[in-house]
Amino acid sequence: MIRKARIEDVKTIHGLLMHREEHEGLVLPRSFSQLYSHLRDFFVVTDNSGAVIGCCALNIIWENLAEIRSLVVLPEHRGKKFGRELVEACLSESVTLGIYRVYTLTEQTGFFAHLGFVKEEMDTLNQKVFADCLNCPRFPDFCNEVAMVMAL
Ligand SMILES: CC(C)(COP(=O)(O)OP(=O)(O)OC[C@H]1O[C@@H](n2cnc3c(N)ncnc32)[C@H](O)[C@@H]1OP(=O)(O)O)[C@@H](O)C(=O)NCCC(=O)NCCS
Repeated sequence: MIRKARIEDVKTIHGLLMHREEHEGLVLPRSFSQLYSHLRDFFVVTDNSGAVIGCCALNIIWENLAEIRSLVVLPEHRGKKFGRELVEACLSESVTLGIYRVYTLTEQTGFFAHLGFVKEEMDTLNQKVFADCLNCPRFPDFCNEVAMVMAL
């Protein structure tokens, strides 16, 4: 089941984003402070027992742009469309908010292309995207991410 994250999910989300072996280092860790501040950005997916097995966030960048980030599904639950459902929940929320352009910075280009995202030059995005890159520990030499965009 997909639902909005709640305060009791924060430690699990932190663990999902921290455990590099579970996502091969493809997702940036977030501090507890960042997660509490941005908790309302997050969706989680739960298994039949109610345990959180994946997460994804929609981060508002500007009046006409939002970012999908912090997408992880636990390895043993991959390939069951949970990743798709999490992304689609974020896209739906973006439409509800009135934001019709969504991007992600990713190495998972096959997955996002399959969902309808197209590659885009970074410099077509808002300057704020670069501000976030400046704060990223992988910028610039250790970053292999490309920008992918969907118009809604
Ligand atoms: C990327 C990730 C979230 C995908 O989650 P998932 O639950 O396994 O993906 P889904 O089962 O929802 O796949 C949805 C669709 O994408 C397709 N797909 C998945 N990975 C793909 C890939 N690498 N290339 C092309 N298509 C892919 C699936 O076949 C499926 O197609 P369908 O819905 O038409 O049948 C998951 O692999 C993961 O957590 N990876 C590590 C963390 C990561 O890389 N996060 C992204 C950071 S931007």
